[in-house]
Amino acid sequence: MALRSANINVMVSAANKAARGLVRDFGEVEQLQVSVKGPSDFVSTADMRAEKVIKAELKKARPDWGFLMEESGVDEGRDPRHRWIVDPLDGTTNFLHGIPHFAISIALEKAGEIVAGVVMNPITDELYWAEKGQGAFMNDRRLRVSSRRAIEQSLFATGIPFRGRPGHQPFLRELSRVMAVSAGIRRMGVASLDLAFTAAGRFEGYWESGLHPWDVAGGVILVREAGGFVTEMDGGPNPVHGGSILAANQHMHAALREVLKTGADAA
Ligand code: IPD
Ligand code: CA
Ligand code: CA
Repeated sequence: MALRSANINVMVSAANKAARGLVRDFGEVEQLQVSVKGPSDFVSTADMRAEKVIKAELKKARPDWGFLMEESGVDEGRDPRHRWIVDPLDGTTNFLHGIPHFAISIALEKAGEIVAGVVMNPITDELYWAEKGQGAFMNDRRLRVSSRRAIEQSLFATGIPFRGRPGHQPFLRELSRVMAVSAGIRRMGVASLDLAFTAAGRFEGYWESGLHPWDVAGGVILVREAGGFVTEMDGGPNPVHGGSILAANQHMHAALREVLKTGADAA
């Protein structure tokens, strides 16, 4: 049985509380799909409500610590060394379309380093968590990244930029390079779960650009504690704040980076 620290318990109970609201709201969204106005206002209310619940729970347990949250931004706190980085609903587009693949992501940053992470899919009840030096887990099962070494057998996840986001042409080049050499590519729509699935060995790797700290902070430590490597896409050391991410098992990290950068374009 994996032993959860006090901080992990605080994060899990905040996520659990918000999860109950999101599950209820997700049920409503499925009904609202057919209405004329559509469910998007409703979803942003659900999102804000989840963030408020998480903030209140974390603040109650650790009153001095700061926050970086997707909806409400930065709250410095009295203790400058600790802050929570939170995405209350990662995978909004899936949620909005009634697709049961979304997550709550909570990370703890201490003196600029992510030291704990929790990513929870409230629909499947998969709770991913990790703490620096203690390993990564799904519920109570220890996670290890995949051991596949051959790129032709490797499955990768990515994110596709959409309307209003930059980088459409560079992404198409990346896609054409990776699809020419790999066993497949998935666009699941939830950055934090793409990282969790990489930690669980379901994907050999994951890359994406145009991300925010709250999309990846909770997942980065999952991959590292499961034995994988995580950098920016150019190999830079700061995938949480650097805006791009490349996460993979130890064999595929360099290989994927090389393909993304210089691989021959497919015919
Ligand atoms: C999004 C998801 C998605 C990624 C987008 C993110 P949101 O987060 O993580 O997988 O491709 O770039 O913005 O908006 O659903 O919290
Ligand atoms: Ca997100
Ligand atoms: Ca979000």
